[in-house]
Amino acid sequence: MQTTQVYAVNRDTTNCLEVRTEQIAEPPAGHVRIQVEAAGVSYGDLLFQRGVVPGGPKPPFVPGCDLTGVVESVGAGVTGLEPGQRVAALVVKGGYTTAINLPAQRVVPVPDGVGAVNVAAVSLNYFIAYQMLHRVAQVRSGQRILVHGASGGVGLAFLQLAEHVGGVTVFGTASAANLDVVRRHGAVAIDYRAEDFANVVRGSVSDGELNPFTAYDENGTVDAAFDPIGGPHFWRSYSVLARGGRLVAYGQNDALRDGKPNAFIGLVGFLGGIVAPKLRPDGRKTGFYNAWSLEKKEPQAYREDLTEVLNLVSADKIAPRSVRTVTMSEIPAAFADLERGRVTGKIVLDCTA
Ligand SMILES: NC(=O)c1ccc[n+]([C@@H]2O[C@H](COP(=O)([O-])OP(=O)(O)OC[C@H]3O[C@@H](n4cnc5c(N)ncnc54)[C@H](OP(=O)(O)O)[C@@H]3O)[C@@H](O)[C@H]2O)c1
Repeated sequence: MQTTQVYAVNRDTTNCLEVRTEQIAEPPAGHVRIQVEAAGVSYGDLLFQRGVVPGGPKPPFVPGCDLTGVVESVGAGVTGLEPGQRVAALVVKGGYTTAINLPAQRVVPVPDGVGAVNVAAVSLNYFIAYQMLHRVAQVRSGQRILVHGASGGVGLAFLQLAEHVGGVTVFGTASAANLDVVRRHGAVAIDYRAEDFANVVRGSVSDGELNPFTAYDENGTVDAAFDPIGGPHFWRSYSVLARGGRLVAYGQNDALRDGKPNAFIGLVGFLGGIVAPKLRPDGRKTGFYNAWSLEKKEPQAYREDLTEVLNLVSADKIAPRSVRTVTMSEIPAAFADLERGRVTGKIVLDCTA
C-alpha cells in the first residue's frame, strides 16, 4: 500500500515542505494501519519545523501531532479494534499523511456521528487544555485562573472547558480584535498590547498601590496561570499566582517572532520562569506541561482524556472558533499564515483531498 506524506525537509522559511509518496508496511504485531482522513495543523508543527523546540524532531520528518481516520487493517494480537472503525490518536510527529501504522494502545475510538474534520479540529488543542486544567492544575469551582492567548486554539479550549467546570473566574489575554470572543466565553478580557495583565489581575482584588519590590510576593491572586508565550512572560505569570497557585507553562511562542528563532528566549523562560521560582519558598509551583511526557508517566490518562474530549465534541459541548481545511499542497501557505499570526480558529489538513 502507498502513502502520501508531507515532509519537513529543512529549517528554512521557504521550500521547507515536500510531498512524497512511499510504500507503507503491513501493521506489525500490536499495531493498526490507519487510512488517515484528517490531521490538525498547529503552531507547534511550525515550531518543530523551525527547530525551536528543544528535543524536537530533526528534518526530514513528517509533522502533525494529531490525526483521525479509519482502521484499514490490524496486526497480530490487536483486540477491540476492527477495520472500518473511525479512530483518533495524538502523535509527536507523522500526522500529515494518508496512512500510518500506530500502536493499538495509542488509538482511541471516535463516537458515532462525529466527522473526521471535527475530530482533527479539537483533538490536540482540547486534549492538552483538558489535561492542564484537570490533571495538572486540578481547577475547581470557586477558583480564579489566567489564560494567555485566550482567543487562540488552546486558549479558547481552556475557556470552554472552564465553562463546563462552572464557577471559575477566568482572565483571558488577547489582542484588541479578539477580546469579544474571550468575553463571549465568560472571561474577563485583557488586551495584552494595551494593558499590563498583571495589574489588571491584581487590580481585580485590590485598588491599593503596588509596591514593585513586594508585589510579586504579596499580591498574587490566581490559582493557576496557563502560559504558552515563554521567555520573561513566564515570570510575569508566576508573579500573579496566589499562595499555593501553579504556573503551567506549555509553549515558547516568543522563541519564534517575526520568523526568527531565538533560543535565548527559550532559555530565559525555562531558567527564569520555571526553575528560579522553585527556589523561592513562597508556596507557588511552576512546571512545563508536555503532553508526551505526561503520557509516558500516565498512559491510561491519555486514553481517558482523549476519549472525554471526543465525547464532549459528540455532545456538541466544545467546538473551535472556526475551521479552515487545507490540502497537502496548501500547507506551506498555512505555515506562513501561522507564522504571521493570521490564523483564527483551527487549520485541518484534509488527507483525502
Ligand atoms: N506542551 C505541549 O504538550 C503542547 C502541545 C501542543 C501545543 N503546544 C503549544 O501550544 C501553544 C498554543 O498553540 P495554539 O495552537 O493555541 O496557537 P494559536 O492558535 O496561534 O494561539 C496563540 C495565541 O497567542 C496569542 N498571543 C500572542 N502573543 C501573545 C502575548 N504576548 N500575550 C498573550 N497572548 C498572545 C495570540 O492572540 P492574538 O491573535 O489575539 O494576538 C494567539 O491567538 C503553542 O506554543 C504550541 O507550541 C504545546
